[in-house]
Amino acid sequence: MIQDIKKKAISDLQGITSVESLEQWRIEYLGRNSQLTSILRNIRSLPENERKTVGSETNTLKELLQFEYKKFKLNLSKTNTSTNSIDVTLPGRKGNVGGLHPITSIIREITSAFGDMGFSVVEGTETELEHYNFDLLNIPANHPARDQWDTIWLDRPNRKDNLLRTHTSPMQVRVMENTTPPIRVVVPGKCYRYEATDATHEWHFHQIEGLAVAENVTFSDLKGTLYEFARRIFGPSRKVRFRCDFFPFVEPGVDMSIDWNGDWIEILGAGMVHPKVLEGVGYDSSRYTGFAFGMGPERIAMLRYNIEDIRYFFSNDLRFLSQF
Ligand code: PHE
Repeated sequence: MIQDIKKKAISDLQGITSVESLEQWRIEYLGRNSQLTSILRNIRSLPENERKTVGSETNTLKELLQFEYKKFKLNLSKTNTSTNSIDVTLPGRKGNVGGLHPITSIIREITSAFGDMGFSVVEGTETELEHYNFDLLNIPANHPARDQWDTIWLDRPNRKDNLLRTHTSPMQVRVMENTTPPIRVVVPGKCYRYEATDATHEWHFHQIEGLAVAENVTFSDLKGTLYEFARRIFGPSRKVRFRCDFFPFVEPGVDMSIDWNGDWIEILGAGMVHPKVLEGVGYDSSRYTGFAFGMGPERIAMLRYNIEDIRYFFSNDLRFLSQF
């Protein structure tokens, strides 16, 4: 009896070509009302000496049929391309299209604002020499920024002067070394500081440096340029404020804040390029003058998009990134 069920089940299975008839087969041979189930259900009515063999043969067949069923189902789904497995009338599914990272977009927006004012874009390297990151920028040897607690120094054989740049300002020097004025460049790029992270500090972040050098560049050029930048990024009626600040590579130095709902928020440092820096690259500081500025695009994006924690930018969380 069990052998008959087996033969019939296997030969029925061979004739199956669709998911629907496979399901019919499963109900017939393995379902609640199948012969196998009813044999097992009624096993107690058999004579004592038959129960064991009938029980184990039935179970073995059941397992075999379950195995054949799964195998067949898998093959069917692989090979069956008839209309019942693909509905060609369904609308297509769109692939996921990536977007620009908010920092990339803000950098592009800022550099293109400066591009319209005649600045070109250059990039530098993220590893720098102490000489460019500090010395040529008039940052003295005992300046606290050089401390190992602020700067990430690189471990290189026989070199003690390799570091990850702490700002994009070394590119001021590198650009001047290779160019005869007039110069107008912006330099976007990544910087690193040995710093504890919190909502407003990251140990890696971006800066955009700016440099303009020529004959007769004045402080009013600096103000006019940065004012125009603020209006382009934050809207045409934006108020700005300049205050005195100190950076060793500029003189005079300032910081610029923008009016943000009644508060002054500082967004960049700037100043007239220090004569020592000009002389350091071999320029005649009585002939050329210039201004420089540096800003953090993360900070600007945080203001623009109302983001309260700088760490979101680098956490790669799609719930955050897909909002832009
Ligand atoms: N490099 C300065 C900083 O990281 C910013 C700056 C750039 C200031 C250029 C003045 C001129 O804080």
